[in-house]
Amino acid sequence: MSQKSLQGWRFELKEPEKGTPRRSRRSAAANASQIRLTRDADGLELKKGDTILVSSGSGPPDVALIRDIDFGTDTFLDVRVLWFMRRSEADDDVVPEDSRLENDVFLTPIAEKIGLDDIVGPCTVLSASQFATVSLDSSNSGSTFRCQRFSDRDSYFSDLVDWDDYVSRGTEYVYERVRELAIPPRQESPRKKKRTDTPTKPKTLKTASPELVVLSDSEEIDLEDLDSAYESPLEDKPKRREQKRKPKTAQKQTKSSSPSKSTPRIARKANNSVPVLPTVIRQKFFEDDNELVIDDEDLQEVVDTDGKIVKTFRKAKEKLLPSAKLQTLPCRDQESAQLYGSLVDAILSQQGRCIYVSGTPGVGKTATIREVIKQLFVNLANDNDKKMFNYLEINGLKLMSPPAAYEALYHKISGDNVKAGAALDLLERHFETRDETRLPLVVLLDEMDQIVTKNQTVMYNFFNWPTYENSKLIVVAVANTMDLPERLLTNKISSRLGLTRIQFPGYTYAQLSEIIKHRLEKIERANENKLVISKDAIEFASRKVASVSGDARRSLVICVRALEIAEMEFLSKPQQERDELQGRYTVGIMHVMKAVNETTSTPLANYLNSLSFAAKMVLVAFLLRRKRTGSAELPLGEIIDEMNNQFGMVLFSELKRQLSHEQLEMLEVLYGDENSRLRVDGLGYIVRELDESGVIAQQQLRAERLRLVRLNVNEDEIIGCLKRDALMADLIATM
Ligand SMILES: Nc1ncnc2c1ncn2[C@@H]1O[C@H](COP(=O)(O)OP(=O)(O)O)[C@@H](O)[C@H]1O
Ligand SMILES: [Mg+2]
Repeated sequence: MSQKSLQGWRFELKEPEKGTPRRSRRSAAANASQIRLTRDADGLELKKGDTILVSSGSGPPDVALIRDIDFGTDTFLDVRVLWFMRRSEADDDVVPEDSRLENDVFLTPIAEKIGLDDIVGPCTVLSASQFATVSLDSSNSGSTFRCQRFSDRDSYFSDLVDWDDYVSRGTEYVYERVRELAIPPRQESPRKKKRTDTPTKPKTLKTASPELVVLSDSEEIDLEDLDSAYESPLEDKPKRREQKRKPKTAQKQTKSSSPSKSTPRIARKANNSVPVLPTVIRQKFFEDDNELVIDDEDLQEVVDTDGKIVKTFRKAKEKLLPSAKLQTLPCRDQESAQLYGSLVDAILSQQGRCIYVSGTPGVGKTATIREVIKQLFVNLANDNDKKMFNYLEINGLKLMSPPAAYEALYHKISGDNVKAGAALDLLERHFETRDETRLPLVVLLDEMDQIVTKNQTVMYNFFNWPTYENSKLIVVAVANTMDLPERLLTNKISSRLGLTRIQFPGYTYAQLSEIIKHRLEKIERANENKLVISKDAIEFASRKVASVSGDARRSLVICVRALEIAEMEFLSKPQQERDELQGRYTVGIMHVMKAVNETTSTPLANYLNSLSFAAKMVLVAFLLRRKRTGSAELPLGEIIDEMNNQFGMVLFSELKRQLSHEQLEMLEVLYGDENSRLRVDGLGYIVRELDESGVIAQQQLRAERLRLVRLNVNEDEIIGCLKRDALMADLIATM
């Protein structure tokens, strides 16, 4: 047992009880139940299964049941609750007559994370019989409730339930039952179906019956069609009123991004309580676009049988008839072929698969995969020009938080915007459901390093879903390091997943110059040979870049820049001279050299160089900490601690001798007069400045020390710049 404190709360961690069987792979809750929270201010103790009041901003607080407390992805500790609906939140005409007391509440299957700050205090939820024995007065009427029915938070209410009985069986039981009781039977998870061996006919809901609701095979439906599909079975449901509104389930409701009438609080709470990184992650330093661009020349407009104009890949197809060689990026023939083969195999066999691609930045991973996908679209669209698979790109760098990957994926599948938690459940069901008509979905999960931070469940799910028999999910996961799965998953799991691996080695000098040549030749052709690039220049560019890293991106940037410089030079020449050249111009080593010099002073580099001493210190502390902990996101508090460690005592006095007057003044502000501990508030504006400029991204969290901070630009570039700063170079020399 250990005790830790955070932001006015202490938490206590108990070893999980021996012999508690893990129920399913998703019941991380089994561990989470061991965390107990105590609020410093009033000694309020919370654990799984407690009922609490949660601030709703305005109006009476909301009533919630703690489903679990766990170490989180977005915050240090996640408190997940199931919401009760207050009687006052339901429309009069739908609430059963026996449950219309002001203090009636109805447990819903809507689960959500809440912020610790929003917890108001404890409350008591009683069964009808217990509630009858309590006398309500002003001291307890705001915190004592009766629960005798569950609800889907819309217009469905379960039969009477014995709350005491439910509570005595534990929170997991309550959660499973409320999901069954308050969701129409059609949405029953197919996984449960597998557990019961004998399929029976669909049942209408029977409250308090712990039996599972079972669907027969023929009745399985795609989630997308839910609305229409469960229209009829609901009609014979007990307690169901004539439907004025369209039947909606809890899931359905959370889909709508604009709060519907019956869920205003949930929707609002969703915005407040789950801290996420800024909505707009600045992209100015990212050159890549998330779109898969199929060149216009690959497309051709034709008129189909209905007289509609459709675009086909006619022209591209001619180039790519089966006999035609697979078009690949130069120097990536082998990787392309591997990838192509693996994907074709998975798509044609309609089997899920996970392909794990690794390699350092700029070695053409993304470019190669896109090229291969593009060709698959063209080559596999042969009969009737119908596509044979769907495609989605998720870039870890651009996600606001790792679970946002679920939102993106579910959006692709259903077109609906659902919050991550609900999306996870829906995805789970989707991939378990058998659907003959479903097209295989290829997901490029790029920059995956960025989404494995504290919590590996996102990565695990993306690796695991393809193993489901019916998922038809093909994940191409891209990361910088080869051993990411091994480092983060147990050997047993990673071997069960059976990843197909493709490793992209860095380019050699020779390869880089071939790539550059290829690219420059393309440009030359496009220019009708007006621009000639000298062999020397190509050689120089590739060697120069290869000496820094095997990064094709940098070398190409330099070449493009060299062309621009040459062009500008040409245009600035007097007309007569230009005429003499007949519009031809040679790009030489000098141009490349100029470009090389320029790229080491990019806008980002210039900005970083202009940063204050303190801001650079923040970055250095981040980098050092990141190196040591290996996580890409760090709480601000830890970064400050790191600064303290690094710049305290020894280094500090050493540095001080070298610092200018202004720099010393800045330190005074940060450190205070005597105290050598850094203060968060002094750093606040520095971090904000870095955030606003887009160098870092920080979480919008009131608790400053807990805010997660991560780099928003290429780490190497920052290190490169800081290394050019005499003071900082020493500090990061060890990296
Ligand atoms: N073999 C290659 N041939 C041509 N261009 C390449 C090649 N490899 C990389 N590039 C170019 O280099 C840049 C970086 O490649 P990218 O695929 O984004 O790298 P990664 O995803 O491995 O970080 C892109 O502009 C890409 O077109
Ligand atoms: Mg990439």
